[in-house]
Order: sequence, then structure tokens, then C-alpha cells
Amino acid sequence: MARNLIADVDLSAIRHNYCLARAQAAHAHAVAIIKADAYGHGAVRVARALETEADAFGVAAIEEALELREGGITRPILLLEGFFEAEELELICQHQLWTAMHSLEQLALLERFLQQRTDVSGLHVWLKIDSGMHRLGVHPDDVQSALERLQALTAVESVVAMSHFACADEPQRPDTLRQLQQIDRSLSGMNIARSLCNSAGVMHWPQAHHQWLRPGIMLYGASPFAEPQPVAAQLKPGMTLSTEIIAIREVPAGDAVGYGASWIAEVPTRIATLAVGYADGYSRHAPSGTPVWLNGRRAALAGRVSMDMATVDLSLHPEARVGDRVELWGANIPVNEVADYCGTIPYTLLSGLTRRVKRRYTSE
Ligand SMILES: Cc1ncc(COP(=O)(O)O)c(C=O)c1O
Repeated sequence: MARNLIADVDLSAIRHNYCLARAQAAHAHAVAIIKADAYGHGAVRVARALETEADAFGVAAIEEALELREGGITRPILLLEGFFEAEELELICQHQLWTAMHSLEQLALLERFLQQRTDVSGLHVWLKIDSGMHRLGVHPDDVQSALERLQALTAVESVVAMSHFACADEPQRPDTLRQLQQIDRSLSGMNIARSLCNSAGVMHWPQAHHQWLRPGIMLYGASPFAEPQPVAAQLKPGMTLSTEIIAIREVPAGDAVGYGASWIAEVPTRIATLAVGYADGYSRHAPSGTPVWLNGRRAALAGRVSMDMATVDLSLHPEARVGDRVELWGANIPVNEVADYCGTIPYTLLSGLTRRVKRRYTSE
């Protein structure tokens, strides 16, 4: 019997979520962020499912873009961090990729490249502004001159000003408003398209929508917010991660389960062993009590997650048998909730799923 740990990816749910993102800003376009193998869902499959709807796709680096082109994706692809070395500019032209530009060094590389390659045309450049997150982006004082230099390049067909919010998922904090003011100052007097919003921006900050959205996590049905949120309530889960019970035993009162003997049975307890562990990407930080879904209701982890297995308390499931399927996250156990138990965010759980997990696609 094969190890039966499966990530079922619902492509129609992802399409629904993309359309929901776009519906938040009727006149905006949206780059579907599918970096990190579409947050663990499979970039080529997700891109194919979105090819009719999506205005463009966003990836972290050229390798991810080339994988999409090899997979037959013809839509625009934006490199969110631009190019890491000058050699990539050839590939950017050859594969008609859009590139972010986050530093004056990248701008100088592009200018030098275009001095040699006078035949190049039709480049799309997204100038990234550091409006306060202090991770990537040109300094606000350099934005106007960088834009002028870009606009002077005849090979550059379009320029978008982009920036990224540090705290858009925390609506009470003033940081996003401060970043918005900085962006307004940096671009004052310039008529240029803007792209500012990740999922949290799309869902909560309409004043920041502008021409281009960049939704990521919401495409996969997870929320960037810690608290319930009206748009989040309309998302559909993009993935159900499930496995099987591979063994059941009676553990006497006082005996412990798993590494570190951290969970001790208070009464005689049936314990199920599941075929899932941290080498699959199911977090070792999921503590005892983390919910799973078994036969139409919840059960809870009992004992530490190990590399290939996890254990569950069957006290409320006398009917459970070896071979029963168990949902680890999906429609019944939101990935956001599992992330809370693990002290992390849904991004790390979804993108951390490893090759060992079989992906199965529904509704192409
Ligand atoms: C530049 C950029 N835009 C958009 C996104 C999408 O963010 P989210 O997944 O929170 O929607 C990311 C993700 O980290 C990003 O780095």
C-alpha cells in the first residue's frame, strides 16, 4: 500500500479567489502571485488554470519564470525582485518577461545592456520604491530621477511604480498610511501607474488599489489577517491536505506518546498514527491539541509530530479504523487555524510542503 498523503488542489477555487481579488477593484488589473511553486500548489498547473483570467503572473526569480514558459504559459510574467545579474537581461528579452527594478545598480546594468543591444524594444519595468519597509526599492529621494532615466530609454515600453506594505495585514497600525503618504510624495507630479497591494492591501486598503493588484496568499484561500475579515470569509480553500490512519493502539493511563514523551494519557486512550510528518512539511511546531478532521468531526494531535508520522487522540472517535482518511487542513480545518496552533502563518505551511506530498488536481 502506497503512503497516501495527498494535497488536493482545487483549481476552480483558486480561479474563484483570483476573481474575488479583482472584484475588489473593478478597474484594476491583477498580477497573480505564483512564486514558490504557487505557494506549494504547483506553479504551472495554477498558471494554466488562471491563464484566461490572470492579467499577469508574479514570480520571485527567473528560474520560476522559465519553468512557466517551458510549461507553455504565454501571459506576461513579472520578476518581483528583478534580475540578480546582467546575464539575465538576455533571457528577459528572449522570453518577454517583465522585470521589477529595485536599485540604481539594476538601473545602471539595464542602461549598459541597452547601449550594446540597440535592437531591444518592448521592455516592461516596474520601479520598486522603498516607501518604508526597508527591504527592497530605490530610496524615495531617487525615485523621480530613476523614473526619468527609465523613460529616456526607448527600449522601455511601459513603467509601473511599485511598492510593498510592511503591515497591511494589521489594519489598526498607522504604517500603511505612512507608506501611502511617502509614495504620494515620491510620485508627486508624475502620471504613472502604481502597484502597491498584496492580498491584505487588496482586501482592506481600497485607497491603495490603483492600477495593478498583486494578490498572493488569498488566491490559495488563506487569509493574511489574524482576525476574521469580510473578504476572507468569501475565499475558498485552494488545497486540502489529507492522509490516512496507518495504525491504532490502546495506550494505558499514565503512558506517554511520541518523542520526548510530551503527551501523557490521563485515561486509557486509543491513539491513531497518521502518515504525515515534518519531512512532508507538516510543522513540527503543531502542538498536542492541533485539530484534524476525521469522519465528519474534529480530533486532536496527541504527542509531537515526528519526521514521517503524527499521532491523534481517538477518544471521541470510537468508530475510527486503520485506513480512514484524515484532513490536516482544507475545507473543515482552515490552514489559518493550523498556522495559529503552530505559531506561524499559512504562507509557511503551504509553501513548505515537500516533494513527498503527492499533488492531485481537481476541476482543471
Ligand atoms: C512584491 C510582492 N508582491 C505581492 C506579494 C503577495 O503577497 P501576499 O501573498 O501577502 O498576497 C508578495 C509576497 O510576498 C511580494 O513579495
